[in-house]
Amino acid sequence: MKKNKDFIKFLFSLYKPVKVLAIVMVVSMIISQVFDLVKQYIIKGIIDLPSNPNFQVSDLYNVALVLILIIILQLIFFYISNITRTIFVVKKQTPYIAEYLFNILDKKNYAFFTDNYSGKISSSINEVNDEIVNLNTRITTGFMSLLTSMISSLIILYTINFYIFITALILFAGIIITRIVYFSYKYLPLIKNAQETNREYNGVLNDAVLNFTSLKIYNAVKTFSESLRTKKEEVNIYKNRASAHEFTYGAIANVAYVLVFSILIFYSISLFNKGLMTLGDFVFFINAMISIKTASTSFTWSYIHIGEILVKVKNSYDLLFNDNNLKNDNKKDIMINKGDIVLNNVSFKYKRSNVLENFNLTIKDKEKVGIIGVSGSGKTTFVNLLFKFYTPQKGEILIDNKNINDYNTKSLYENLTYVPQETILLHSTIYENIKIAKPDASYNEIIEASKRAELHNFIEGLDDKYNTIVGERGIKLSGGQRQRIALARIFLRNSKIVVFDEATSALDNDTEFKIQKNIHKYFNNQTIICIAHRLSTLQDMDYIVVIENGKIVDKGTPKKIIPKYDKVNFER
Ligand SMILES: Nc1ncnc2c1ncn2[C@@H]1O[C@H](COP(=O)(O)OP(=O)(O)O)[C@@H](O)[C@H]1O
Ligand SMILES: [Mg+2]
Repeated sequence: MKKNKDFIKFLFSLYKPVKVLAIVMVVSMIISQVFDLVKQYIIKGIIDLPSNPNFQVSDLYNVALVLILIIILQLIFFYISNITRTIFVVKKQTPYIAEYLFNILDKKNYAFFTDNYSGKISSSINEVNDEIVNLNTRITTGFMSLLTSMISSLIILYTINFYIFITALILFAGIIITRIVYFSYKYLPLIKNAQETNREYNGVLNDAVLNFTSLKIYNAVKTFSESLRTKKEEVNIYKNRASAHEFTYGAIANVAYVLVFSILIFYSISLFNKGLMTLGDFVFFINAMISIKTASTSFTWSYIHIGEILVKVKNSYDLLFNDNNLKNDNKKDIMINKGDIVLNNVSFKYKRSNVLENFNLTIKDKEKVGIIGVSGSGKTTFVNLLFKFYTPQKGEILIDNKNINDYNTKSLYENLTYVPQETILLHSTIYENIKIAKPDASYNEIIEASKRAELHNFIEGLDDKYNTIVGERGIKLSGGQRQRIALARIFLRNSKIVVFDEATSALDNDTEFKIQKNIHKYFNNQTIICIAHRLSTLQDMDYIVVIENGKIVDKGTPKKIIPKYDKVNFER
């Protein structure tokens, strides 16, 4: 129940910048529909006018003028509502939602991104935006307008004859209520399943497109296209079942309608015969019965569509606002004055078995520490914990004597940066890709950073130089070039602690050597942790730590460690 309340709050929050406009949009549609009722009432009057004993043709002119005025007013309000919705509401609301939901991602923990398809996350954000635009249309042109026109037709039936009014009310209320209940329980759950399956389909599709080269060289395209086909078939199974429900219900409701309508029409003929009903009343009765029927069908449909829209938005909401994914980030800011790092008895597992076990390590401010170990020994996991991508199940991690668990990540990252093992770039220019590390960096700072990362000469050789587009994920650059962009980012920052996770592994010895020299030259005031498998990289470190199966098994100066492990193959 609380969850539903939160969801409703979320829905309203999407209307934050358009509160007044949304009211204008709905209210002017209702007013337009009320004028529609008045219009029908006048038409009924026109039919009855000639039977009045004092009837004059000039009366007809007068009524006709009023009719024209009412039609004009109805149209004006109709357009006010539509223009507000399609121009002013959209203009403010969709950019707001785009920004708002993207910022939600900033509150997600690392697991959120490793556990979900990226396509699924982006389509959730897109769906909310698309569906809210649909919702606005459905509410104004469907739900509110149909509701008003049904109510107004019923009011006129009431002025004609009480029994007709009551019978019609019971008939249509019955049809609408049973339909709404029926659809809520039978139809919407199927639509929810269809939509979830469709989102999985999108995830698999995006993933497959990103991996297309691999799929092609392993001749796996066909297997994938078949599984995509199966997924779509699964989507259709749910949709077809939902449609079958719709047709069955529609048939039953129509039979009830025809029956009641036949009874009422004979009843009204007898009333007309006895002079208890005017011709205008009779014409209006038929008109009202037909228009309520159309309106009630459309009304329930618009209810169903609104239901579908809400189900979709709720699915996205559940993914984006899942409590488990939200890390508690209203913690205080961390102030890091010294780059001391202490891991105290840290044990950590992703799922079943411990990756790090009773891990103890003390690194002092400004120390340069190398870490080596075979692939899978837990080196990157150590970095993941230091950056709070995951929280250890046991033990504590202190930076500058403060338990990082007590502080928010935003302030942590002001003083802690790293070059990851795999560098994925934005589909943008080299310049912009370096600049994300420091959005207010000047042109000269960026040139200087890329010089330190041994990247500048390479960039100068490109046709578009710093404006070269790197392609999605940086696909148009070599692994070593991507790594150097990541290194240039680091040189832009002035962090107290810098971690390199196999950050120069794709470079040739000569370039790697030059960059190592620069790291030592420009980061002499910083704490450096350098994970590497090429031991020669670590020659200038203060000491080297050897990790095996999540434990420190050896530690010492490069002089001692490098010859000892020279024969071990540390290829990642
Ligand atoms: N996100 C994850 N979820 C589950 N297991 C993981 C995850 N990341 C790494 N592992 C596992 O943890 C172990 C240590 O990995 P890692 O720290 O990346 O090793 P490395 O020393 O090569 O950097 C490996 O067995 C790996 O399969
Ligand atoms: Mg690793």
